[in-house]
Amino acid sequence: MMQNYGKLRTRVVAMPKDTNSKGNIFGGWIMSQIDIAGSLTVRDLDSGNFATVAVNSLEFKKAVKIGDTVTCYGKIIKVGKTSIQTQIEVFAERVINHEEVCVHVTSAIVTYVAVDNDGNKRLLKTD
Ligand SMILES: CC(C)(COP(=O)(O)OP(=O)(O)OC[C@H]1O[C@@H](n2cnc3c(N)ncnc32)[C@H](O)[C@@H]1OP(=O)(O)O)[C@@H](O)C(=O)NCCC(=O)NCCS
Repeated sequence: MMQNYGKLRTRVVAMPKDTNSKGNIFGGWIMSQIDIAGSLTVRDLDSGNFATVAVNSLEFKKAVKIGDTVTCYGKIIKVGKTSIQTQIEVFAERVINHEEVCVHVTSAIVTYVAVDNDGNKRLLKTD
């Protein structure tokens, strides 16, 4: 099922320190996981440095709870001259009534630009 969403990029347990004032996991923490997952996804094409240039879409579909195992899947959806667009899907696994449940919690599209050592954009290495 997960194969349509690309490769597994990150997998981590959501901890109490990552909560917002309502006790759910803070959206910024999930965005950080997404950015890490996207930065690993672009390496499928080019092993050089990248800068995150845009979060083109982001949808928090369901809340993430303390203790959930949060998994990000990522794939490349568009390749330009200097940029790569990634699609990241986030899932939370939790145990409810002794049964493991997997919830699709967040979807995002994030764009990265290939940069040189000075932080200027560079052409993608396509070999
Ligand atoms: C990334 C950066 C070097 C791009 O430099 P730039 O000269 O402004 O780049 P451009 O406007 O020519 O865009 C470069 C590419 O990004 C794409 N791009 C730019 N803004 C975009 C957006 N909002 N959504 C999707 N793609 C975008 C362009 O289409 C172009 O793609 P292509 O070359 O594949 O056709 C510069 O914007 C920058 O340094 N930004 C800060 C990055 C940063 O600090 N990120 C956070 C921490 S990593």
